[in-house]
Amino acid sequence: MDQQLDESKVDLKEASTKRRMWKPHERQKNVFKGNSHWEQTKIGDVDVARLSVLPQGAALIPDSFGVIATPSWKEVKQPTLPFGFDWQQTLAGRFDFYFELKKGLRCLALGERFSGLNVRGEKHTLISTDNPHHDESMDSMYKPIPFLVVGSQNKFFAIFIDSSAPSRFDLDTELTEEGRIELFTRRGFRVYILGGGTLPQLVEAFTTLTGRAKLPPLWSLGHQQCRWSYPNEETVRELAHEFRQRKIPCDTLVLDIDYMDEYRVFTTSKKAFPDFKKMIADLKKDNFNVVTIVDPGVKVDDQYKHFIDGKKNNFFCKNKEGEVFQGKVWPGDSAFPDFLKDETRKWWADSHKFYTDAGIAGIWNDMNEPAFFGITKVLPADFSEMPGQHPDFCLHDAQDGKIQHLEVRNLYGFLMSRSTQEGLLAIRPNERPFVLTRSGSTGIQRYAAVWLGDNKSWYEHLGKSIPMLLNVGLSGIPFAGVDIGGFWDDALPEIVIRWYELGIFYPFFRNHCSLSGRGQEAYAYAPNVEGIARKLIETRYSLLPYIRGLFWEHMRTGAPLMRPLMWHFPTDAIACDIDDQFMFGSDILVAPIVERAHEYRTVYFPAGTWYHFETNEKYEGGRPYVINMPLGTVPAFVREGAILPIADVIQHTGEYSTTPITFKVFGKKAAARFFEDDGITFDYETGKYNEYELSYADGQFTAKPVHKEYAASNKYAYQVAGDNKSTTVQL
Ligand code: GLC
Repeated sequence: MDQQLDESKVDLKEASTKRRMWKPHERQKNVFKGNSHWEQTKIGDVDVARLSVLPQGAALIPDSFGVIATPSWKEVKQPTLPFGFDWQQTLAGRFDFYFELKKGLRCLALGERFSGLNVRGEKHTLISTDNPHHDESMDSMYKPIPFLVVGSQNKFFAIFIDSSAPSRFDLDTELTEEGRIELFTRRGFRVYILGGGTLPQLVEAFTTLTGRAKLPPLWSLGHQQCRWSYPNEETVRELAHEFRQRKIPCDTLVLDIDYMDEYRVFTTSKKAFPDFKKMIADLKKDNFNVVTIVDPGVKVDDQYKHFIDGKKNNFFCKNKEGEVFQGKVWPGDSAFPDFLKDETRKWWADSHKFYTDAGIAGIWNDMNEPAFFGITKVLPADFSEMPGQHPDFCLHDAQDGKIQHLEVRNLYGFLMSRSTQEGLLAIRPNERPFVLTRSGSTGIQRYAAVWLGDNKSWYEHLGKSIPMLLNVGLSGIPFAGVDIGGFWDDALPEIVIRWYELGIFYPFFRNHCSLSGRGQEAYAYAPNVEGIARKLIETRYSLLPYIRGLFWEHMRTGAPLMRPLMWHFPTDAIACDIDDQFMFGSDILVAPIVERAHEYRTVYFPAGTWYHFETNEKYEGGRPYVINMPLGTVPAFVREGAILPIADVIQHTGEYSTTPITFKVFGKKAAARFFEDDGITFDYETGKYNEYELSYADGQFTAKPVHKEYAASNKYAYQVAGDNKSTTVQL
């Protein structure tokens, strides 16, 4: 019999933020009635089994939106499953999954977690949550992705729950070598078990199922500057002026909520930005791209076109009385587009003409968990049961009828970003769109880049950004970063420098802070600090040819840009435990200082020979070294055998196509692939790109074209690390 949910227990703060305050339920009798079946297939080298579950009385298994691949499945009675996977239904709204977690196996991925790389030994609630003050004691975060990878060395398995419903994972917290998952739903769902491959193979298979990011516009990989908020036209123009005049490279200025008319999306403030269009056009002339924030909450205001249209056309979520559901966000009382509906997504997508007409280059989707100020009654406090009996405070429409918000909450940011990207693509079909999102779920990489929300200018958050981004990458999302300098609190010069040292290796490279702290632009400090920041940002630009190559690799294999050491060195037990260092692609090892007032750190080098990025000093791998890293050091080491394409200094990517590129060779024998295209359009999809196999041996450098259909105008040379001579190369 269903247990009634006690409404007094429904409290978002309790449920979503207090980590470890829940216990998995005791094993109970299996009450499952309905249909379930197993199927099997192979994706690449990975065996994939899929369990489809349709509880009695539920409509068809709902569209998860996360999975896009349709391999051919073969129905099987009971597949051979790794790690003793077992499942049952325990209550009308709850499914339990059990699996062995043998000692020594690592647990990875799960989307965005405030955690080390190995998420084992911890409890994880996966429900999309605005968690603006996250720390050790907090649980759910902005991007719940129920994809758990388990294993060690070259043998990994994965469980992927294809459902938008909330779930929670207990990964052997009681040290009984058991993992438990609880999924809270009354609807159908699927579970995928990916078996027996290496970590790269599993991520490749997972991103085959859930899709990959296409190449981002080159400008979006440059330096982005944001703050909550640059309040008016004058400040924004000043900002642009400072960057150019001080020769600090920058491509993008990001406008936070104050560009709007009292936070009404799809408007601008006439008072603060009297000639918005002209400002954007002038900035464009100076090679700045402008990105604007767009939140989902639409101000409840009967004089406001967007609210009137949304209400008239039933585009908003409703309450159980059938009225427009209202929650409070920046604009005050707001209505929330029901992105589950195709018509709503189309309306929202088309509305972006407002921004593209104004010359806006990209869109930043925020608050899309969605965040509701003051409403805490979103989630059952202890998840003792699923919200069949939950007060229907917010309802969505879907193919199979009205749906409670909680069951699809995890999809909200994902579908909002999808709609945003579709809007930009419909308006500018041959321009790569740039969408940034705070919330997202399985497959979000197809639609947007992500950042990890409201961090703090704390060393703890600087350090945590590494394992957090590594797990985000293993969850399928390559284009990710955190606010450089930290969002909350004052960023003192030292942490800003340390943050840039690491941040130049974040795939998404944006400095952003809140309204309460001091300005933390690279030039907001004394000249010596500015000088160091400039040098680091220039280094980012010099790495752009390498970074775009990594995105190309992601498109082909699903590999993230930031990779745990175990990705490349799976049999090195020490390397596998490290999460304060990472590989940036296969050739660069990054080991930053993430502590205040430290000038030395221990760097572990896996097998091979490694070269200091700046000094070319050599280190023989297989052991740690203590390395001196004064403020401003580029904390990177290059693998012997690599060839890095390094661009000359530019101020913005508008200068990229003519900047000279030097292929820097590390060692006596080296090889690499080099990719280039126009960086803006989708022409690469019809073959307009170049790809070369570069090699160096016996003092000879060769570049063999694998594909050559793009007319590049850069000049090229090669240089052997440690040697000052550079030699022209004809491509
Ligand atoms: C949220 C975002 C932050 C933004 C602020 C104001 O806190 O996470 O990045 O600056 O809202 O829009």
